[in-house]
Amino acid sequence: AKPVSPDLASCHRSLTSGGRQVNCCPPKRGYEEPVMDFKFPNPSSPKRVRRPAHLVDDDYIAKYRRAVTLMKQLDSSDPRNFMRQANIHCLFCTGAYNQVNSSLLLNIHRSWLFFPWHRMMIYFHERILGKLIGDDTFALPYWNWDNPPGMAIPHFYMNGSLFDNDRNRDHLPPQIADINYNLEESGLGLEQQIASNLHLMYNQMVSGAKKVELFMGCRRTAGQEGDCDGLGTIEVSPHNILHAWVGSDLQPEGENMGSFYTAARDPVFYAHHANIDRLWMVWRRLRGNVPEITDPAWLNSFFYFHDENAQLVRMKIRDSLDITNLGYSYDEADLPWLNARP
Ligand code: C2O
Repeated sequence: AKPVSPDLASCHRSLTSGGRQVNCCPPKRGYEEPVMDFKFPNPSSPKRVRRPAHLVDDDYIAKYRRAVTLMKQLDSSDPRNFMRQANIHCLFCTGAYNQVNSSLLLNIHRSWLFFPWHRMMIYFHERILGKLIGDDTFALPYWNWDNPPGMAIPHFYMNGSLFDNDRNRDHLPPQIADINYNLEESGLGLEQQIASNLHLMYNQMVSGAKKVELFMGCRRTAGQEGDCDGLGTIEVSPHNILHAWVGSDLQPEGENMGSFYTAARDPVFYAHHANIDRLWMVWRRLRGNVPEITDPAWLNSFFYFHDENAQLVRMKIRDSLDITNLGYSYDEADLPWLNARP
């Protein structure tokens, strides 16, 4: 089995889940730019601490809002521009690249590429935001939907540069999330909805995630005939479910959050993925921090991102496994689902 990587020069139109053509390719296709191998941030640089969104203060919110405003104002020829950032998700999640030396498309969802790829995407996004406001301690907030006080969309995503008009109107704060959402309202009262969410979390993080593959997703390697198709527990739900829950029911494919090609246009995407990223770390810790996968096909799979200096970087999965090396951490929240055995 060989590691997966995209052929940047192959960027082409791709299809939405609903079968419509989209073109998310950058104006300059990447292969024309010099590429550098990923380097860890200097260990002596200040740490970035990601905090639960429902606990951040007004100063932080103002700073975050300003950073996103600046990102939206960047010219679209700058890869750090907000829409360009959102398009990275479209590129890697709708199959806009071929795999290297292959006509097979690269897709990072529904497999063991899911956690590391999204970790990398928001890692660079966070550093770009910090750079734009000249704050090298800036960290994304995480949407703490696995904890009762954090279950609604964080209120500050409701205005300014963090607002997105394309969301389901029935799911705006203070409505708490239904992480078992199946496109119909659960009809549960507050207490029951919380209990139902915590039970699901227990299942996805503990009882249903005892084997590595069940949590991480199936083994996708290069040039595989009939790609593996197996989502990890968390990728199915709360991940996919919350994308669908936030996205607008008035848009054909649940845009923005409910569709791969538009999901990252909603700023709440990054807080959603910060929590997904945190739960990967938590699951790993519950297992004693032993390496989850040692297969070189996974460790050596790599992707491309632009860093805070607009430099194109090639990053391997093996470089994404220890967040301390990446210079950030999570301000710990309770794990109320840990004892929520159904
Ligand atoms: Cu690539 Cu939350 O999706």
